[in-house]
Formats: sequence, C-alpha cells, structure tokens
Amino acid sequence: MSVVAQPETPFRILGISGSLRAGSYNTALLRVARRLLPEGVELHIYDGLGEIPLYNEDVRARGEPEPVQRLRRAILDADAVLIATPEYNWSVPGVLQNAIDWVSRPAGQSAFRGKPVAIMGASTSVAGTLRAQLQLRQVLRSVDALTLPKPEVIVAQAPTRFDAEGDLTDGTARELISALLSGLVAWARRLNPERTLVESR
Ligand code: FNR
Repeated sequence: MSVVAQPETPFRILGISGSLRAGSYNTALLRVARRLLPEGVELHIYDGLGEIPLYNEDVRARGEPEPVQRLRRAILDADAVLIATPEYNWSVPGVLQNAIDWVSRPAGQSAFRGKPVAIMGASTSVAGTLRAQLQLRQVLRSVDALTLPKPEVIVAQAPTRFDAEGDLTDGTARELISALLSGLVAWARRLNPERTLVESR
C-alpha cells in the first residue's frame, strides 16, 4: 500500500436534511448550497433518512440495519457534513435525532467522530431554528463531531424567503450560506491537513 497525492479529488460534502417533506425548506437550503459551492467541492444530498427504523438496541444487537449502514458509509466517505435542520417543538426533529443516534453506536464508534460538520436551518417561525441549532450543536458534540462554530445560517419565516421554484430570494441568507460553505471547507482542511493524500492499493 502506498500513499499518493491526488489533489484533483473533489472535496465531498454530504448534505443531510432533517425533513422528509417533499417541499421541505431545509432540503431546499441544501439545493441552494449546491449552487453556491466553492471550486473543487461537490455536495451530495442524502435521501435515505426516511428508510431508517426507529432506534432499538435489540434490533442493533441482531445487526445494523442496511439503511443505517448506508448512512454510516456516506458519512465516513465524506470530507465534511452539512446538516439542514428544521425545528420541531423547539428541538431537533426526531427523524434527524434518530438517524444520529443510530450512527453514534456502538459506543466509541460514532460515524461522526472527528468529522467536520456545519449546520443551518429554516423554519416558518421568527425563531428560524435558533433553538434547534443550539440543541443540534450539543448532540453533535456528544457524538464527537467537530462542528464549525460560525457563521450561523438561520432562515426565519421561510415562506417569505423562497420563491415558487424553491430558490432562496434572501440575498443575505445566500451570502451566509456561501460563507458557511467556504468556512466548512477551510475548517475541514485545517482539521485534516493531509486531505489531498489518499491511499492507493
Ligand atoms: C413545527 N414548526 C416549528 N417551527 C419553529 O420555528 N419552531 C418550532 O418549535 C416548531 N415546531 C414544530 C413542530 C412540529 C411537529 C412541526 C410539524 C412543525 C414549523 C416548521 O418550522 C415548519 O413545518 C417547517 O416548514 C419545517 O421544515 P421543512 O419541512 O420545511 O424543512
């Protein structure tokens, strides 16, 4: 096995939306982010969260379900993760929390361990996911993710900030998403300075 430089390998961000809704503002935020990527960066939006069963330790003891394995692999393969979270009852939606719980186990083998992560969120209220994002930061700390501290991307009153095509019309929010993306890439490169080195077999 040798180590070779492959600087041409694109930097891969895995986008995870905490909403399963077809018209989700949070999934729309990820699509906006995909159009604002820095050069050499790609973003894949994960679409398998709805297949993940409710966490059950007995089920895990019989073997990790395939949809969980897929999410784990996607996180491990990504250079960084970008989570767009809605806010449900001042907190992180169960769908997202459940997915994070699955890939956090077994203890000490969290898929998020050492993973650079950035978060953003859109909601229909004036609070714009502020509370959910604070809680998500705490959860991500628990699973050993390394979450980018700033900028905060908080899209409040989402229906007034998107057009009929799902595009973000708020220029400030777009600028913040651009800054979040470049910040995430810089954060990941700082955490993994050997990023351009991959192992060849
Ligand atoms: C909500 N919503 C909501 N919004 C908010 O800002 N704070 C909150 O605490 C809640 N609570 C809440 C609970 C439940 C059960 C639902 C279904 C919704 C509204 C939420 O912001 C809105 O549904 C968003 O559109 C959800 O995000 P997506 O699906 O558009 O990505």
